[in-house]
Formats: sequence, C-alpha cells, structure tokens
Amino acid sequence: MPAESLSPNLRTIASDAASRAPVGIFDSGLGGLSVLRAVRAQLPDEALLYVADSRYAPYGERDDDFIADRTLAIGQWLVAQGAKALVVACNTATAQSIALVREKLSIPLVGVEPGVKPAALQSKTRVAGVLATQVTLRSVRFQGLLERYAADCRFLCQPGHGLVQAVERCDVGSAELRTLLRSYLEPMLDAGADTLVLGCTHYPFLDAAIRDIVGDRLMLIDTSVAIARQLERVLDQHGLRAAPSEDAAVLPRFYSTADGSHQQQLAASLLRIEATVEQVVIPSRRTAASDSQAA
Ligand code: DGL
Repeated sequence: MPAESLSPNLRTIASDAASRAPVGIFDSGLGGLSVLRAVRAQLPDEALLYVADSRYAPYGERDDDFIADRTLAIGQWLVAQGAKALVVACNTATAQSIALVREKLSIPLVGVEPGVKPAALQSKTRVAGVLATQVTLRSVRFQGLLERYAADCRFLCQPGHGLVQAVERCDVGSAELRTLLRSYLEPMLDAGADTLVLGCTHYPFLDAAIRDIVGDRLMLIDTSVAIARQLERVLDQHGLRAAPSEDAAVLPRFYSTADGSHQQQLAASLLRIEATVEQVVIPSRRTAASDSQAA
C-alpha cells in the first residue's frame, strides 16, 4: 500500500520503520571500509550493512559488463536485506555502472568519485597526481570530471596496479608494497606535484605508507568524509535519517563473498571494529557457474 494512502498515524509508523532500516555499503572488497569509517563518524545512529565482493576483487582488472553485473546484483541483494539507501563505496563500480544501477534500484544511491575538484582547488603548483584503477581512469565519467574541474591544473593519472590486491591481503606496509608505491609516487614528485588524489577507496588504508615516502610534499585528497556528508544530505532529503539514540552505536553487519577473514582482520586493526563476517553467495548472471560450485 502506498504510504500516502495510510492514515497520518500509520504513515508516521511506516516512516519510523523506514528510517530505522539499515544503509547498505558495498565495495569490490575491503576498500569501502574506509567509507564505512567516515559514515560511522558522521552518522553514528545509522545501522549499516557492508558487503565486500572479495571473491571477485579486484574489479579494476574486470571488464565493464562484469562490474555492472556484480554492482547491480549486490545492490538488489542489499535491497532484499531491507537497505533504505545504498552507498556504492567503489570508484570503479561507480565510474562504470552507477547510471544503470540508479535506473534499476528503487532506493536512493550515493556513489564515489576521485576528488579532482578539491585537488584542482587546492593545488598550488597546479600539478596533481591521481592514483586510481585502470577502469576508473579510462571511464567516460572520470574523463568528464577532468574536463569539468581540472581547469589549468595538470593531472598525472597513474593506475595503481597491485595496490588493491595488497590491501585485500591486509598488506598496508610491506617492503614490496612500499617499493611499488615509490614507483608510482616518485615520478609525480619529480614532475612537481603537490597534491595526490586517492581515487580508490582501498588507498586511504595506505596513507601511512604513502606519508613515509612523500612526507608532507603531497597533500592527500580522500573523499570519504565528503561521501558521508552526501549520504547525510540524501537521507535527510528522503526523510530516512535514523532518529538519534542514547544507546551505543550498533556494530555494522559485515558480509563477504569470500571467507571474510581478511575483512575481519582489517576492520579490527584499522577500524577497531570487532565483528564477525558472514560469508554469502550473491549470484549474478556473470558468476552463476562459479557461484553454484561455491554454494
Ligand atoms: N575500492 C575500489 C575502488 O574504489 C577498488 C576497485 C577494484 O577492486 O579494483 O575503485
């Protein structure tokens, strides 16, 4: 029954129930936990469901149809779990498939994109680096961001091959990882960059390793706080914000399409969240065959 046809009392009860529903957050893997961290800080009363599609990460090495297929299937799964809004906490999935997912899902959506605009506003040398996946960098959406906001700023776009895989292994500081990061960052420094856009939600977990290499020569642009604020605005616009509660914030519910052990480890070590991770099978057109073997 549509909410408008209910009596005012029943309408209040229906909207209370809707605002108590959880927000779904999804990423190809563990990177979206950096967005979840910001959402918890900004919106402590919201219940959160987090899905890591770690079985199929990294998306940055997948074809466009595969990414759209998984993003839609996970969005639909989160809607079926009762999510009132969805954060696509993955630059790659947003760049590739947000328009399609927006069309197909009935709940409000928030996507993420590399912080080209803040970088162009803040860079003094007018040279900025962008680290993101190959899929994000070649997307029409990212090219549009550069056209709209780069202005007179030169952006050095570097695919972060290997970085998502490192974070998925919970490696945020090994010698190999530092060597890889150095190979991406030193050419940016040599070219005069003073700003670095972290264009993948996995990369904020590498901030300490990046800082060790670049010191304060690069200003790091991480958009997770801006995403949390955008989610707040979207929930307010739709009357979906959870009512303030005196109780301690509930723990997020964590799901993974892999075994979840690394997710549990990263959440405990970097987010100080001790929560179990439930392994789930979320079938989709492109993964039907391998999912039926896993089930
Ligand atoms: N966290 C995802 C992003 O922001 C990583 C994509 C991948 O799995 O390659 O792009």
